[in-house]
Amino acid sequence: MCGIVGVVGHNNSKEVLLKGLEKLEYRGYDSAGILLSDGEETIAIKTPGRVNDLRELSTDAMNGTIGIGHTRWATHGEPNVENAHPHLSKSGRFGLVHNGVIENYLELKEKYVPSELLIGDTDSEILVEVIDYFSRTGLSTLDALSQALSEVRGSYAIALIDVEELNKLYLGKNKSPLLIGLGENCHFVGSDAMAMIHETNEFVEIMDGEVIMLTSDMMVIYDKDAQVIERGSFIAEIDATDTEKGLYPHYMLKEIDEQPSVMRKLITEYTLPNGNTTINNEIISHISQSDRIYIVGCGTSWHAGLVGKTLIEKLTHIPVEVHLASEMGYDMPILSKKPFFIFLTQSGETADSRQVLVKVNELNLPSLTITNVKGSTLSREATYTLLLHAGPEIAVASTKAYTSQIAVMAYLAKAVGMIKGDEAAKEFDIVREMGIAASAMDALVSEKDYIATLSESFLSDTRNAFFIGRGLDFAVSLEAALKLKEISYIQAEGFAAGELKHGTIALIEEGTPVIAVITDENTASHTRGNAIEVTSRGAKVLTIAGENVSRSEDAVILPVVHSLLTPLASVIPLQLLAYYASLQRGLDVDKPRNLAKSVTVE
Ligand code: F6R
Repeated sequence: MCGIVGVVGHNNSKEVLLKGLEKLEYRGYDSAGILLSDGEETIAIKTPGRVNDLRELSTDAMNGTIGIGHTRWATHGEPNVENAHPHLSKSGRFGLVHNGVIENYLELKEKYVPSELLIGDTDSEILVEVIDYFSRTGLSTLDALSQALSEVRGSYAIALIDVEELNKLYLGKNKSPLLIGLGENCHFVGSDAMAMIHETNEFVEIMDGEVIMLTSDMMVIYDKDAQVIERGSFIAEIDATDTEKGLYPHYMLKEIDEQPSVMRKLITEYTLPNGNTTINNEIISHISQSDRIYIVGCGTSWHAGLVGKTLIEKLTHIPVEVHLASEMGYDMPILSKKPFFIFLTQSGETADSRQVLVKVNELNLPSLTITNVKGSTLSREATYTLLLHAGPEIAVASTKAYTSQIAVMAYLAKAVGMIKGDEAAKEFDIVREMGIAASAMDALVSEKDYIATLSESFLSDTRNAFFIGRGLDFAVSLEAALKLKEISYIQAEGFAAGELKHGTIALIEEGTPVIAVITDENTASHTRGNAIEVTSRGAKVLTIAGENVSRSEDAVILPVVHSLLTPLASVIPLQLLAYYASLQRGLDVDKPRNLAKSVTVE
């Protein structure tokens, strides 16, 4: 969702901005723009199209030493040139890019902005006019910005240029991500490290409520009380090549392929030479003393949470509830006496999850964020963090984050189970089982051509599809359906296999594709029974089965992995099936319509 990039003090600011915006494309957007100045002339170009269109619109002569850029995912007003950022105040003095949602924008408009000043429909355009208004009352730009932000209700990450001070960038942040990058005689700003990683790997965090003034060689951070504060930098673990596709046609395929090596990386990251886990003892003992764990997430992360529930309950015997963040934020369930919250979030920035964490913090309850992004908002605001170490996930459809979330929860469950003396945890040799799972994944990712033919024959002319399974296979069916629908636009549903006959079976007609996931010895025959029920009503059934429960008619046979880790294997052919279904329909696999990678609005 919306991306910001900015630079001050760089001789090739145009390229920094365009490259930064290209790196932010993965977040999802429908218009883009940059504002650039060489200290004398200030030029803005905007397009309702792609960053590449901006490149084509920009002339060779255009360059500068300071600039801001933006990719916009429309919330207030359609994606057109007027609504695209940067927004220039009508006086021409201020240029602004903004991410987030200003909830009281109509109130602010009423108070400070006559309608004739506005050309678009966005809350951001109102904000730049409010800043301009305060500046006209005689305040310095910094004070005008602080005054305007003090009146804003909602979320924002902003970068502001004052054309009367073309050696300074002003920044502000509340609940939307923003990060400063340190360069040589220059500073950068971006929504995430990826926007700047081609220029620097050294970053400084910005906290909510802070306002910052950046020049080429100075960074002044003002806290909520307008006091200047010092903050150290950190080095990001990613390097620029992690964000490239290389020879892959799509990021999604690259990320599917990376999963076995991510599993192996997690084994190294989470295992000490003596075989114990590297997870901080404080986390382990805090969780082991809790009487109920609440896992919170959205979309794919929520699906990983469903698998996490089984892992944690089986290895620790602590009851687990899994909640959709967007529901829990408005309807907190009755909590147990000693709850512990686990937030699953690839990006660490998802607004729905964050609003639950804010409530959890208000209640002074302990929490752990499991995320792929070090220093992300949910990571900073939770009591503890565990990292996914999956490397940047660029494709909108999450793949390696899902499997790494499951793997990290397996490590966590094993560690907590061990401290509780749980027999199942003692028997679960995680290093061995994760190694076996990684090898199974290796075998499965090499089946691409075969899965492509399955997709061609099974999904090419369908408008809908069903995925069925029981237990962990049901959890994977939900994820498989989400993958398929989000990138191929085939209407897909994941069902508990036994549940179809309670209503949904009415949708089965001649040729309806049903994909059955079967890995559990205890339930295999029941799911096969459900597959027969739909076959008798005309469905085309494709089964993906574990080797231990396989039959000759199964379309994909999964190498045997530990019964608690089967999703790590079974999801791979399903991710590939979705990938090829999208590709065969000629769709934009990595950037499906209407979707954003980092969902920073509620
Ligand atoms: C689906 C997908 C989304 C995300 C969801 C949560 O492929 O990527 O469903 O899983 O938006 O995002 P994070 O994990 O960043 O909180």
